[in-house]
Amino acid sequence: MLSLCIDNFKTINMENNIDWGKLGFGYMKTDYNVRCYYRNGKWGEIEVSSSEYIPMHMAASALHYGQEAFEGMKAYCGKDGKVRLFRWEENAKRLQRSARGTHMAEVPTKLFYEMIVKTIKLNARFVPPYGHGASLYIRPLLIGTGAEVGVKPAKEYMFIVFVTPVGPYFKGGLTPVKIAIVRDSDRAAPLGTGDLKVGGNYAASLRGTVKVVSQGYSSPMYLDSCERRYIDEIGAANFFAIKNNTYITPKSTSILPSITNMSLIQLAEDIGLKVERRPVDIEELSTFEEVGACGTAAVISPINEINDMDKGVVYKYCKDGKPGPTSLKLYETLVGIQYGDLPDKHNWVTILD
Ligand code: PLP
Ligand code: COI
Repeated sequence: MLSLCIDNFKTINMENNIDWGKLGFGYMKTDYNVRCYYRNGKWGEIEVSSSEYIPMHMAASALHYGQEAFEGMKAYCGKDGKVRLFRWEENAKRLQRSARGTHMAEVPTKLFYEMIVKTIKLNARFVPPYGHGASLYIRPLLIGTGAEVGVKPAKEYMFIVFVTPVGPYFKGGLTPVKIAIVRDSDRAAPLGTGDLKVGGNYAASLRGTVKVVSQGYSSPMYLDSCERRYIDEIGAANFFAIKNNTYITPKSTSILPSITNMSLIQLAEDIGLKVERRPVDIEELSTFEEVGACGTAAVISPINEINDMDKGVVYKYCKDGKPGPTSLKLYETLVGIQYGDLPDKHNWVTILD
């Protein structure tokens, strides 16, 4: 039974001893994870484990050839104590696309949903209560477990779901962040795997991330790797800008199709903004009124400053260090829907019972 009431949460809070308001975005051990194995051409029974480790063959294709894909989604506890999922079907579809793009076995939508719900229910005491800006991060992970030494798709896979309570991805939540443009490493190639949620993209992004984070920035901005002229992504989030009553976001074959961005596009239209999804030239950075990063982890992180270190140019956006009005409106609407405070006009939310 997942309709946890607020009173339950009070008990649970004390039992857990977690300071929900102080959570950052990191791993915290929970009680259980849920696993399923693909062998002999089919998925087996769902298994529950309390171990944080996975026994794996040393020649597993995930380890050597990067046959690995994951998802990131959140469960939100509303004022009514009910737990909500946001657009989970889109995560299921994207994992299937990532699986096809890397020749892995696809996780059927029904299995995906059953495993996610089971993992949340088994770890219900870790769903942060309403009002702390925290949520339960859900990490579905698909890996090639079959032993291969030649480069080819594995015959066996494991799908595992674990959860961990999280706070904001960037320190300070809605506090605007500083970003730096990276040109000396690329995250993804135009016809590579940048549009899939596979581990290799994140490995490739680490050089740029470590470089700019060590200089005090929250995240790198990646440009298209062909011309290094158009904006691709902000670390593990999509980019958007606001100008002349228009929501502008990059169209590129090397960025992850963000479910948050897809939702913001709809919400922007709902509040009367025009929407442009097109290549966004970095020359335009000086013309934007507001800019931000968006994603499940990042939600909306307004950007205060973009430093183009190679060119010695710094773009500034937020007045008095505050998010712009349109970013704020979009943030409040999105989060309001996710936590059940605002009507779910587009049927994005699944309430678990
Ligand atoms: N881009 C990258 C590279 C990401 O890792 C993520 C996170 O999932 C996003 C964008 C945002 O996507 P979503 O809104 O579906 O979480
Ligand atoms: C998410 O936004 O869910 C992500 O997956 C980002 C993550 C890589 C930290």
